[in-house]
Amino acid sequence: MLWPTFLAPVVFLAYICVARASITVYGLNGQAQQQTHANGQPDASATSSAINSAFTSIPAYNNVVLQAPPVPTNLTTQFDVPVQSSSQGVAALSIELKPGFYGFSVEFSVVNQVVGINSTFLNVQFLNLMSIITQRAGSVVIRVGGNSQETATLVDSLANGKSIEKDKTNSTGPTETPTLLFTPEILYMLANVSALLPVKWYLGIPFNDTTNLRLGIAEAGEAILGNHLLGFQVGNEPDWYANHKNRPLNYSQEDYFGEFGVVVQAIANDNKITVRNNLIGPSVSTGPWTPESVFNTGFVSAYDSALGALSVEHYPTDNCAAAFPDGGFGPPKDPQTVFPEYLTHQSGLGIVAPYLNSTNYAQQVGKPFLMFETNTASCGGFPGISDSFGAALWAADYGMTMAVANFSAALLHVGGQDDTYNPFTPPPTNMSDFDQWTIGPVFYSAVILAEAFGTSGTAQINGQLSRLALFNYVTDPSGASTIAASISFDGTTPSQVMVKYLLAPSVAEKVNITWAGQTLSGVFQSDGRFRGTESISTVQCDQSSGTCTIEVPAPGFALVFLSSAALAETEPSSTVTFSTSTVTGKHTATVNPTVLATSNGHSGADRARLDSTSRGSSGAASRAELLPGLCTAFLAAFSALLLLGVHTRT
Ligand SMILES: *[C@@H]1O[C@H](CO)[C@@H](O)[C@H](O)[C@H]1NC(C)=O
Ligand SMILES: *[C@@H]1O[C@H](CO)[C@@H](O)[C@H](O)[C@H]1NC(C)=O
Ligand SMILES: *[C@@H]1O[C@H](CO)[C@@H](O)[C@H](O)[C@H]1NC(C)=O
Ligand SMILES: *[C@@H]1O[C@H](CO)[C@@H](O)[C@H](O)[C@H]1NC(C)=O
Ligand SMILES: *[C@@H]1O[C@H](CO)[C@@H](O)[C@H](O)[C@H]1NC(C)=O
Ligand SMILES: *[C@@H]1O[C@H](CO)[C@@H](O)[C@H](O)[C@H]1NC(C)=O
Ligand SMILES: *[C@@H]1O[C@H](CO)[C@@H](O)[C@H](O)[C@H]1NC(C)=O
Ligand SMILES: *[C@@H]1O[C@H](CO)[C@@H](O)[C@H](O)[C@H]1NC(C)=O
Ligand SMILES: *[C@@H]1O[C@H](CO)[C@@H](O)[C@H](O)[C@H]1NC(C)=O
Ligand SMILES: *[C@@H]1O[C@H](CO)[C@@H](O)[C@H](O)[C@H]1NC(C)=O
Repeated sequence: MLWPTFLAPVVFLAYICVARASITVYGLNGQAQQQTHANGQPDASATSSAINSAFTSIPAYNNVVLQAPPVPTNLTTQFDVPVQSSSQGVAALSIELKPGFYGFSVEFSVVNQVVGINSTFLNVQFLNLMSIITQRAGSVVIRVGGNSQETATLVDSLANGKSIEKDKTNSTGPTETPTLLFTPEILYMLANVSALLPVKWYLGIPFNDTTNLRLGIAEAGEAILGNHLLGFQVGNEPDWYANHKNRPLNYSQEDYFGEFGVVVQAIANDNKITVRNNLIGPSVSTGPWTPESVFNTGFVSAYDSALGALSVEHYPTDNCAAAFPDGGFGPPKDPQTVFPEYLTHQSGLGIVAPYLNSTNYAQQVGKPFLMFETNTASCGGFPGISDSFGAALWAADYGMTMAVANFSAALLHVGGQDDTYNPFTPPPTNMSDFDQWTIGPVFYSAVILAEAFGTSGTAQINGQLSRLALFNYVTDPSGASTIAASISFDGTTPSQVMVKYLLAPSVAEKVNITWAGQTLSGVFQSDGRFRGTESISTVQCDQSSGTCTIEVPAPGFALVFLSSAALAETEPSSTVTFSTSTVTGKHTATVNPTVLATSNGHSGADRARLDSTSRGSSGAASRAELLPGLCTAFLAAFSALLLLGVHTRT
């Protein structure tokens, strides 16, 4: 099975908080949320970012700053939020949450820019970024794949000691996917990352030609990565194959079913592949096929023993017309017009709605359901949206909404220089000796989900509310649209609660973004470590009224920890960082794993684990008991307030 047994899905209770008059309660199948963000008014708070103008023609470093939508009329800013501290008797059930929830999907063709050059040259910035997540979530999942996996072929060696080589001459389709050759170095490189940090990997079996299968990645991947390997995707977005001219125009779900079977059989006949239950499919991507149309071929019953998880991929919209002006996509979409569609809880609800039957089905057949690749928009995303603070709020909301909808994990895609949505972007290759990385706003969303969901990955019925998440999508520098949520409890009112804020001056902001006072932002400026002093707000609760009033600036996000134990669970004590001075004097340093492994007398992996638990020396016992569950309480009012509660075991 894909998930270790200690993470096996446990059904637990979540609840819908029924609020007073000023709040509308939205269930996942419920009412459409009121759209309040009209477009148009200039926004005084939109700040321009100082981006090296020499690079602004590269999408990843574009300097497009949009206008924040105007403040909605008659915005409600005062909310009474009664919360039920116990999940007992609560209506909506949800599966347990995997720690972290958000992982990353790295396009195969850029893995040697993102992760490192080879097994002895790992990117320090990448390690630091992954350390941020693993410190909070305990582990992180990364898929190396995408369109470029389909033609990737493992070879023994390449000229000039290269570990990966692209051939763009045979690129096909609107995604202009290069064919790839790679050597085992790439797999050793991933293994060496996992030797330093608790990182687990998904790979893909090339599927462009099942009459000429190339299983080298599975044979070598299993041998080199061992139990750091979670599984293999079989077919990336097969519903687009006909359209992308990778298959005949009549390519059908039955054809995919048949080809999947070819791979299952070939693996069964391959004695170099011993793990035979870790395949991932069908990975349809909102093309002409629904997941059900594949399931209805008998896919899961036919391949039950081979399937580790069911998967889909999804981008809520695309920017293909701008990316490929002659591609027959029609007129380009105007990012300013599209922006408000991301600044509402309705976006996440709309995305998950078509998958609710599938996540339910996945539970029935006992498989995790994965969002294997996602981000703001396909074909590179929208400059000014995908790299804005608004996208950070959106991705945090969307991730929580997927979790409520019983997805088991979601992977944010990293596509490289041509994409605006990357959670992190290494500098162009010719600059990587001088420049640092550029961290995208959606990386903060992954950090937030890691902290919101905690580390244990199990949950139980009589949980106790431990964390609340509050969103304010409105931009209003006057302060008049700051939300005040008065949280009241049916049980004991805590004396105080702790709050971490995600803040920026505007939803259009690209650079000045902070999480609990710390930042990763700045074009070409990040070594993957948070800068600045962490600041956690303490809010005193009013015992006479039994309320704790939490303010959320416009725009902003607040993660409210209802106990110090809840905070301690995800609060890194001393983050394992990989200093750029470790090995060389250059900004971008090679990491010599043996140096790191022997420092402080612990291996990197051991240190990571020690650090994430050492905080609990006062709370080691409570850590074991802090088993976060999931609350399905989404309170949304005029697009401004969204509330999610996370339960932990008492
Ligand atoms: C805003 O409130 C005022 C006063 O209550 C009311 O007259 C007006 O119709 C409301 N506007 C909207 C758009 O709801
Ligand atoms: C999630 O799964 C639980 C447990 O099966 C179920 O009760 C709940 O209704 C599901 N949630 C959604 C939104 O489908
Ligand atoms: C890895 O890449 C670095 C930098 O290009 C090079 O110096 C080193 O020899 C390579 N190592 C291997 C094992 O190929
Ligand atoms: C599949 O990809 C391989 C490697 O790039 C290539 O050699 C082969 O011609 C491709 N097959 C088809 C049918 O496109
Ligand atoms: C590219 O396509 C040409 C013509 O179909 C073929 O001869 C060549 O082998 C292909 N190259 C790769 C790397 O697939
Ligand atoms: C890194 O990879 C190389 C293979 O290129 C291997 O010899 C070395 O032991 C690995 N280091 C770690 C820490 O796994
Ligand atoms: C699909 O089209 C191919 C030619 O492109 C043809 O050989 C095949 O018979 C067709 N299959 C079906 C089921 O119509
Ligand atoms: C839900 O999915 C199952 C499995 O694909 C399918 O048989 C069923 O018809 C679907 N139900 C709805 C309402 O779409
Ligand atoms: C790297 O490439 C970019 C774009 O072609 C160019 O503007 C820049 O000057 C190059 N930098 C170096 C150090 O060669
Ligand atoms: C950055 O944003 C914060 C609000 O999040 C604001 O208080 C601060 O002045 C901004 N700093 C700059 C340099 O714009």
